[in-house]
Amino acid sequence: AGSGKFFVGGNWKCNGTIDSITKLVSDLNSAKFENDVDVVVSPPFVYLDMVSSSLTDRIEVSAQNSWIGKGGAFTGEISVEQLKDIGCKWVILGHSERRHIIGEDDQFIGKKAAYALNEGLGVIACIDVVPSWDNIVIAYEPVWAIGTGKVASKTRIIYGGSVNGSNCAELAKQADIDGFLVGGASLKGPEFATIVNSVT
Ligand code: G3P
Repeated sequence: AGSGKFFVGGNWKCNGTIDSITKLVSDLNSAKFENDVDVVVSPPFVYLDMVSSSLTDRIEVSAQNSWIGKGGAFTGEISVEQLKDIGCKWVILGHSERRHIIGEDDQFIGKKAAYALNEGLGVIACIDVVPSWDNIVIAYEPVWAIGTGKVASKTRIIYGGSVNGSNCAELAKQADIDGFLVGGASLKGPEFATIVNSVT
């Protein structure tokens, strides 16, 4: 899923109604996205099919969560197969709200990510840090590249947290930011389009 040099996701979280989402989709379909960026929006589950079937194919759809395995007797869960069935290409996993409010831990999130990837869904893997980032360097080390002579291709690292139409251009200038995961500002079509078009 996704081949652009950049990636911008809109995480709508637990927001929206049929009316507000119909308007948001209309605004997104009218927007022009000229640069080499994958544009993905993530509605609440109940609106995924409606959004997936009404967006132009320039914008892909993500779920905000998925189950750790095949569907079945798991009340309240949504399986990767069901997400793919309605045209979903991505899933957000490990978001800090699901870690700190719902209580998901790395092991549970890891199972979800492994299953989603295995079934061909793109994963927007969220990591969060409670203490300071000052002394942290992220090492992307796929296990199959360690000691094998095989070298991994680049993976996109995006930033999320209070990105909006006013600060996106400055943030996008940072060499190590390949895009954004946007919350609040993604609920406003024109502002989200400004953010997408700031990444070049
Ligand atoms: O998933 C990204 C989101 O948590 C960022 O939220 O409202 O600060 O853009 P916001």
